Amino acid sequence: MSLVGRLLGLASLATAFVSPDGTGRLPAMGWNSWNEYECNISEDVFITVARQLVNLWLRDLGYEYVNIDDCWSDKEQRRNATTDELIPDSKKFPRGIIHVADEVHSLGLKLGIYSDAGSETCGGYAGSLGYEELDSATFSRWGIDYLKYDNCNVPSEWADEYEYIPEEPTSNAPAGYDWGSSNTAKRYRAMSGALQRQNRTIQYSLCAWGHAHVEQWGNSTGHSWRMWGDIFPAWKGKEKWSWEVGNGELTIEENRSHFALWCAFKSPLIIGTPLDTLALRKPILDILSNRELIDFNQDSVYGASAMPYKWGNDRPANTSDREHPAAFWVGTSVKGIHVFLLNTQDTAVNMRAVFAEIPPLKAVADQQLLVHDMWSGQDLGTFTECFELEVNTHDTAALRITTVEGKHPNASWSPR
Ligand SMILES: *[C@@H]1O[C@H](CO)[C@@H](O)[C@H](O)[C@H]1NC(C)=O
Ligand SMILES: *[C@@H]1O[C@H](CO)[C@@H](O)[C@H](O)[C@H]1NC(C)=O
Ligand SMILES: *[C@@H]1O[C@H](CO)[C@@H](O)[C@H](O)[C@H]1NC(C)=O
Ligand SMILES: *[C@@H]1O[C@H](CO)[C@@H](O)[C@H](O)[C@H]1NC(C)=O
Ligand SMILES: *[C@@H]1O[C@H](CO)[C@@H](O)[C@H](O)[C@H]1NC(C)=O
Ligand SMILES: *[C@@H]1O[C@H](CO)[C@@H](O)[C@H](O)[C@H]1NC(C)=O
Ligand SMILES: *[C@@H]1O[C@H](CO)[C@@H](O)[C@H](O)[C@H]1NC(C)=O
Repeated sequence: MSLVGRLLGLASLATAFVSPDGTGRLPAMGWNSWNEYECNISEDVFITVARQLVNLWLRDLGYEYVNIDDCWSDKEQRRNATTDELIPDSKKFPRGIIHVADEVHSLGLKLGIYSDAGSETCGGYAGSLGYEELDSATFSRWGIDYLKYDNCNVPSEWADEYEYIPEEPTSNAPAGYDWGSSNTAKRYRAMSGALQRQNRTIQYSLCAWGHAHVEQWGNSTGHSWRMWGDIFPAWKGKEKWSWEVGNGELTIEENRSHFALWCAFKSPLIIGTPLDTLALRKPILDILSNRELIDFNQDSVYGASAMPYKWGNDRPANTSDREHPAAFWVGTSVKGIHVFLLNTQDTAVNMRAVFAEIPPLKAVADQQLLVHDMWSGQDLGTFTECFELEVNTHDTAALRITTVEGKHPNASWSPR
């Protein structure tokens, strides 16, 4: 594997592992160091981010995890010769990880850390394979609240019998093969069990990159599971899933689409852009702070991701095309039915939400419905049969649809 394997990806939380205190019931929200800082991290980075989450009111919107990614441990000493415990890098963390945890906790936030289900992390630091009990006890003792568990440097004796990689989705596995019995699943379950034996809740984020069909066993192993390789800040990319709010070459519309769709998919919302005031511009902060999209993502009643109700782009349903995925999405929340219209074309286009095409609205398609813009927070008016609007190139319209009285038009409907 290459020296990558990072940020959180799409996870569906319809039915998933939930800790006794409720952790994991809703997608995690927070910040992660990798995309901006890679290995150039220090306690200052995390303490500054924690303060900024508070100052920018992001904590009050639900962003709570401050997550340390790779390269935090001592690359030479690796483990304590007596106890075998992981040793933090004393230049980056002169007062230890416990000090950072105390600072972060004192601000009403939580601290995350990173390790790897192999002999070494992606950056070549000590991994946790074979040290699951010890490392989870160490993390617990330090006051850690979240673990991202990466997938680099897997020893050959732990290789899977059959391989499945989502970017090249062919596999030699026999039909009906139980991917939950794969070595990948075993490596990730070992850490899951060890974390659950600690007397501290540690949110467990599987970063197995979608390998070994993690979507079939990830929900019973961790609180969230990544479905793909790393994200990369470019709209079109041959190899990489390419949307990221805040870093790189995305237009403001592309940044909006990234955020709207991650909210719609009930993905964890883990910010990857720096939060210091000089670097973070107002339009980006506004996207990350959109309360209506966050509320959809964090809805306490309806857990299912939005689903495509029509493919669009002149393509039949379920066409796999990274540049032109499904354009017409529907989901539900306590507030109503939500429609997301993604324009993947290179020009602005008029997109029409035809109520009779939207499964939960079929029965009320000939009645007046109130359409609300989740981006602006404004009502757009009442409409029957359809609503049409111009969507900028690569932008995503986010609409909430209710009865004219503002009631839910179909509270019994769910995408699953
Ligand atoms: C994981 O998903 C499967 C299939 O949808 C379901 O049967 C199972 O109960 C889920 N596990 C948990 C822990 O929710
Ligand atoms: C690493 O971080 C320090 C402190 O934030 C900064 O001054 C320095 O320029 C960074 N180095 C690189 C190579 O990015
Ligand atoms: C290793 O652990 C022992 C026992 O806790 C401790 O006294 C010692 O300072 C540790 N060594 C290092 C290098 O952290
Ligand atoms: C939790 O674990 C720590 C470290 O192992 C231990 O000191 C403490 O007594 C434990 N607390 C409870 C309530 O079990
Ligand atoms: C979108 O996000 C990327 C990252 O911040 C940024 O480089 C770009 O400037 C943003 N686009 C706009 C128009 O703000
Ligand atoms: C698309 O895939 C979904 C999920 O597998 C399936 O339920 C649906 O029937 C498919 N639609 C078409 C038109 O094949
Ligand atoms: C809710 O949606 C379901 C699924 O499309 C549909 O069968 C039902 O008629 C709808 N109920 C109402 C009250 O519109």
